Amino acid sequence: IDLIARSRVSRNVTYCCYDSLPIPFGLVNILGNRNSSYIPILRLPNWRVSRPVLIMASQPEAPAAEAPPTANPPSTKQTVDPWNVSGEVGEDGKVKAIDYKKLVEEFGTKLIDQAILDRFERVTGHKPHRFLRRQIVFSQRDLEVILNRHEKREPFFLYTGRGPSSDSMHIGHTQIFDFCKWLQDVFDVPLVIMLTDDEKFLFSEKRTVEEVIGYARENCRDIIAIGFDPDKTFIFSDYEYMGGAFYRNVTRFSKLVTYNVAKSVFGFNESSNIGKIHFASIQGSTSFATSFPHIFGDNEKETAKIPCLIPCAIDQDPYFRLTRDCATRLKYAKPSLIHSRFLDALQGPGSKMSASIDSSAIFLKDTPNQIKNKINKYAFSGGQETAEQQRELGGNPDVDVAYQYLQFFMEDDEELAKLGQDYREGKLLTGELKAVCIKHLQEYVSGFQERRAKATDDVVKQFMSVRPLNWKGNPRVERI
Ligand code: TRP
Repeated sequence: IDLIARSRVSRNVTYCCYDSLPIPFGLVNILGNRNSSYIPILRLPNWRVSRPVLIMASQPEAPAAEAPPTANPPSTKQTVDPWNVSGEVGEDGKVKAIDYKKLVEEFGTKLIDQAILDRFERVTGHKPHRFLRRQIVFSQRDLEVILNRHEKREPFFLYTGRGPSSDSMHIGHTQIFDFCKWLQDVFDVPLVIMLTDDEKFLFSEKRTVEEVIGYARENCRDIIAIGFDPDKTFIFSDYEYMGGAFYRNVTRFSKLVTYNVAKSVFGFNESSNIGKIHFASIQGSTSFATSFPHIFGDNEKETAKIPCLIPCAIDQDPYFRLTRDCATRLKYAKPSLIHSRFLDALQGPGSKMSASIDSSAIFLKDTPNQIKNKINKYAFSGGQETAEQQRELGGNPDVDVAYQYLQFFMEDDEELAKLGQDYREGKLLTGELKAVCIKHLQEYVSGFQERRAKATDDVVKQFMSVRPLNWKGNPRVERI
């Protein structure tokens, strides 16, 4: 008897598959398993259906048919990775706010401090965006490199992305895009936006390829509605753009990443499908200018030196830690990063808005009335139970969802600080604070909806077509 397949389905249970003979295509029963789960086994062309394959479990326990995306067991600790975002669970069972400073230490990134903000302002001539002023965009890797290049008028580009997991985006999703638009205006550089439809297929049990392709199109319209400049923005879907120079980089990347590395960076295990393991090379390779010859030209030697700046939420950092390592080995410029925190769910700090839980988020499709009702009904309040108590004791804006949202949406620093102070001192009631928040959100969402109505199929086609881009510092344009 030969051992022909062996897989560790869960941490303590090893399943072995004994047989040297052909395996029937389809589902193989795992014996000794209470729930009688199945694992699919592929059939090679010359395999014939033959006798049953025996799979033995070392312990008669139910295996997971599909491993969770990460091997991290559920814990009370703070978890922030591309698949899970949750604050620490306290002794009282309540989820605490995410400790972003701790992430900076754990991930080995740098806090965005006043010194770099001053430099940003000197180099760009722009007052830093409110997200930078308020530590919403709070962490970075090699941002100095990008500022140096901007100062010397050396090329670089912006890269961000979106995993189209559903056709309804919420205001938590658009924050990083709003910030990207601002960066694009400030730096006047090309921006590539990746729609990872393949990722959302590979990482879900339910979604079909057709569904994620549909979501990518809808999300593309949402992203266009942020207001990006079509002359400087290339939006692509992995399913459409894969091939050519991009795929060449994807394979260069994947050849450098062993299964062991993928396991330790992302927590995959032997039951994770191989598409997931490979996906990092796709998200990573978008950081390389050589993946986009229609934008940067065919001269790979020159293009290899062009770095990108990736604005992303901090949970995406593992992908780019790995990418920075691969970049060095491929002799490509390392991507720089700038990380944002999350917009809290309506229920309060410690979790983020979820596209599948209507009451957790304000959706871009919500009507003014829905926005009002959601904030009034669900937004976690840092105020007191009654108006009298609030006037006497004051509230806590640091945990108050309406106040937290205003940090994202209200431009005026002084007005925001005054609201916070009045709330703390009890001069402002929860209902009053919520009313200000509702007004800002209604304006934001209705402005968005107006712009989205203009993003027709033709506009989508324009943004997604493989074409040269035009920006001021484009050396190719200058040459012409
Ligand atoms: N993986 C991201 C998601 O699930 C999508 C993504 C791809 C991305 N490339 C990116 C996000 C670069 C930020 C920056 O949403």
